[in-house]
Amino acid sequence: MQRATITVAAGRPDPTPDAPLNVPVEFASALVAGGDVGYTRHDAGNSRAFEQVLGALEGGHAVLFASGMAAITAVLDVLAPASVARPPVFYSGTRAVLDARSHIRQVVCEPDAWIDADADLRWIESPTNPDLRVIDITAASSRDTPTVVDSTFATPIAQRPLALGAEVVVHSVSKYLSGHSDLILGAAVCRDPELAARLRDHRELTGAIAGPMEAWLALRGMRTLDVRFRRAADNARVLAERLSGHAGVQKVIWPGLANHPDHAVATRQMDVIGPMLSAIPTGGESAAQAISESTRLWTHATSLGGVESTLERRRRHRFESPLVDPGLLRLSVGIEDVEDLWADLRQALEAAGSSR
Ligand SMILES: Cc1ncc(COP(=O)(O)O)c(C=O)c1O
Repeated sequence: MQRATITVAAGRPDPTPDAPLNVPVEFASALVAGGDVGYTRHDAGNSRAFEQVLGALEGGHAVLFASGMAAITAVLDVLAPASVARPPVFYSGTRAVLDARSHIRQVVCEPDAWIDADADLRWIESPTNPDLRVIDITAASSRDTPTVVDSTFATPIAQRPLALGAEVVVHSVSKYLSGHSDLILGAAVCRDPELAARLRDHRELTGAIAGPMEAWLALRGMRTLDVRFRRAADNARVLAERLSGHAGVQKVIWPGLANHPDHAVATRQMDVIGPMLSAIPTGGESAAQAISESTRLWTHATSLGGVESTLERRRRHRFESPLVDPGLLRLSVGIEDVEDLWADLRQALEAAGSSR
């Protein structure tokens, strides 16, 4: 089945007269004895339904966690690497987790240096947050070393890292997969069922299972992933092109643009170039801050991947990498009408220009 069909058709109960079409939300802790589960910290029906859909989309065995960070720490704990190859700039939370594990040697890899990386785990994020570099997953996974790909910005609609050679895919389900900025969840998807079982054990013992309401909402959001992601990506293309021609913008970073350093890899590897877009205004940091505070339709907010468009200057966070330009605005393009999005961005760019 095609991915658009899987998002709709997988993870449903067998059709039974007068029964619901979807797995209903199941509020429970203790379960009646005699079954395989017994207690919902071990496993839960709403998590399982979501895992069936994500596992089918990624082509592996999915484990749902209470957050993206819970999934990431579980993968690092279970694989227990002594050294990790990672991009120069990637999600600040993952970098903080690696930094806190001082016994792990970090090897910083530029996009073209992954093949020869000397480390016992490769931690790829593609596209990277927030500078949108695209890493060649096939080339990076060509050695015996296990490769993990944080595919949050791509979703399985744009790329399927397990099919490209990775062992594990991780997601912040809080973003596109759920899609409505209303929950925190994460997931890991493994090629090896044995590794997925070890992650389940880790989840059980660290208490990182998803609540039933979040799991149910995430699956409800996932049903529309394909249409949401594609529509937002179409909007991003239009905005990237228009921003590129605007005098108030010095740099637009979107892998679908021919001048992006990884454009060739992105078009080869990704079925859709996603909706995340970064831009640096001509006026730098102060203009970026002014723009993020003067939009009316775009919300000034962190996070990403919701139906609503949001933007922020990433370096406003003290934990963001100093390698990120202080004027970089990260835009999470939503599914609104693109003309309304452009009109609002243009008025904010003009307001920032006149305040300089
Ligand atoms: C690329 C990426 N990975 C992981 C995470 C962490 O996910 P969560 O916030 O769901 O714990 C984030 C959050 O912003 C992210 O952007």
